[in-house]
Amino acid sequence: MAREFTSVGVVGLGTMGAGIVEVFARNGIDVVAVEISAAAVERGRATLTGSTDRAVAKGKLAEADRDALLARVDWQVGLDALHSVDLVIEAVPEHLDLKQRIFAELDRVCKPEAILATNTSSLSVTEISVATTRPNQVIGIHFFNPAPIMKLVEVVRTVVTSADVVADVEALCERLGKVDVTISDRAGFIANALLFGYLNHAVSMFESRYATREDIDAAMKLGCGLPMGPLALMDLIGLDTAYEILDTMYRRGGRDRRHAPVPLIKQMVTAGLLGRKSGRGFYTYERPGSPVVVPDEHTPVTTGGALADGARATAKVGIVGSGTMATGIIEVFAKAGYEVISVTRGAEKSAKVCEAVKTSLNKGVVRGKLSEEDRDAALGRVTWSATLDHLADVDLVVEAVVEELSVKKALFASLDEICKPGVVLATTTSSLPVIDVAMATQRPADVIGLHFFNPAPIMPLVEIVQTIRTSAETSATARAVCAALGKTGVVCGDRSGFIVNALLFPYLNDAVKMLEASYSTADDIDYAMKLGCGYPMGPFELLDVVGLDVSLAIQRELYLELREPGFAPAPLLEHLVTAGYLGRKSGRGFRDHTKR
Ligand SMILES: NC(=O)c1ccc[n+]([C@@H]2O[C@H](COP(=O)([O-])OP(=O)(O)OC[C@H]3O[C@@H](n4cnc5c(N)ncnc54)[C@H](O)[C@@H]3O)[C@@H](O)[C@H]2O)c1
Repeated sequence: MAREFTSVGVVGLGTMGAGIVEVFARNGIDVVAVEISAAAVERGRATLTGSTDRAVAKGKLAEADRDALLARVDWQVGLDALHSVDLVIEAVPEHLDLKQRIFAELDRVCKPEAILATNTSSLSVTEISVATTRPNQVIGIHFFNPAPIMKLVEVVRTVVTSADVVADVEALCERLGKVDVTISDRAGFIANALLFGYLNHAVSMFESRYATREDIDAAMKLGCGLPMGPLALMDLIGLDTAYEILDTMYRRGGRDRRHAPVPLIKQMVTAGLLGRKSGRGFYTYERPGSPVVVPDEHTPVTTGGALADGARATAKVGIVGSGTMATGIIEVFAKAGYEVISVTRGAEKSAKVCEAVKTSLNKGVVRGKLSEEDRDAALGRVTWSATLDHLADVDLVVEAVVEELSVKKALFASLDEICKPGVVLATTTSSLPVIDVAMATQRPADVIGLHFFNPAPIMPLVEIVQTIRTSAETSATARAVCAALGKTGVVCGDRSGFIVNALLFPYLNDAVKMLEASYSTADDIDYAMKLGCGYPMGPFELLDVVGLDVSLAIQRELYLELREPGFAPAPLLEHLVTAGYLGRKSGRGFRDHTKR
């Protein structure tokens, strides 16, 4: 017979524990909430009251329901209060010895049939379980932060966990309105194994001043549609907890250097900069525990639309190319009021591009996003040409031709001869070194990368790629242009993958490796990232959309430039590409898209 869970215990009422208490109490289950001291109990109680009061204020919870919810919680100091609960979830700091001590104590205190669960993110559930005399009743129940909101629960079964315990916990998750994925005991399970290498990499970008915290976070939010940027997420998780998770994953997960905590994290923990919970981490918060970011000495000064730091005035723009990106970029500039000269390799191509721009603008009209007058005005601003000579007096050139270095270099050499002095020459390359293109001209200081995302009229992000030769004036001009286009420009250095691809593709590659190792299924991995981390698409959905060949090419570039062993493309990805399984475009990738 399935177990009835009428009362549960939660041990540790910090970031996770307080949220877990709320999840149970909201679903009609009595909770004994335990902490180490009266002050810590009060902190946990304040977190729950704050959260439920906010829900009432937002009209998401009736006052009477809040009162009933709070009445279900029995706040206690010390584990002895857990003698008659049916299940305990432990959520104390991520230290094996501490957890083992607590489990030994729980084993002594709790009734024999009680299930003992840990919310650990990275420690071995098996090692925790052997501190008890009932390892078959020990299981991992890994909630995601914030527990009341995130739908996913990873249920971690060890080799000795009883099948009925697993089944009962799965049924409990369902009762709590959660989606569970059941997996075996491996460092980081699904979500953290895929997440923490990415978070650590983002911290290393920040530490090496590759980009600012705001730009790294904006890049991942706007470029990938993530609910928050990696540094803001580190602050939410807590830097002390993140450090422990990375450290354990490094030691348990095959000493992958990408999990060795970036030194800055340890320094911040030592300095008490733990993230939201201490009021300061990568960002500064209104007060400890508050989600509200307040300006500090690192907050960039906005210029309110004025031309910043000696940016050059830009009115006339040349756009070279006739593909998807060029077409989108023409539309973006024309809509923003720039005079545009489109240069393609012939009248036929120009006619095609012109048609594509018209079709896209018409869609805007049909959807009520653009008036007919504005559409006509935008089209009227574009001149169609098949010769670069017409770019002699433009202020900015955006190159969006084929992704081949020799072609781009030849084009930049020609632009160098044709264009007037002072023009900004930009390349939209997504994988080639901008400096190679810059050095094809006699004016590398004027050359910069403007990496638009596809589809350019919709995606709000542009990566502004500065080489070691780019002048401050050129960079300021690029930033001013992005602002005038209504795009968020993020500034970064000239390294493979810039910000977004460098952070995104290794994560996708890791998901393929996880699938290849048969740790989980494509469906469960996709669920884990969507429901546990709020990603708009799971890694396999995204790989099929982006194209497996494109993903493999980007991953190879990253590997070749950085020589990071963990970046080596997953053999399964290579095999699928070889087999012609390229994703949606070929009808089959990780999934079969030919069936409806
Ligand atoms: N922070 C996250 O985003 C996140 C997400 C999922 C899982 N986890 C996991 O949840 C667990 C807790 O992490 P957290 O971020 O909530 O930590 P936290 O530091 O915010 O909270 C831990 C709490 O445990 C209490 N505690 C310490 N020793 C205790 C004891 N002997 N008895 C009772 N309470 C004790 C502390 O007073 C503190 O309030 C860790 O295993 C972590 O890996 C964290």
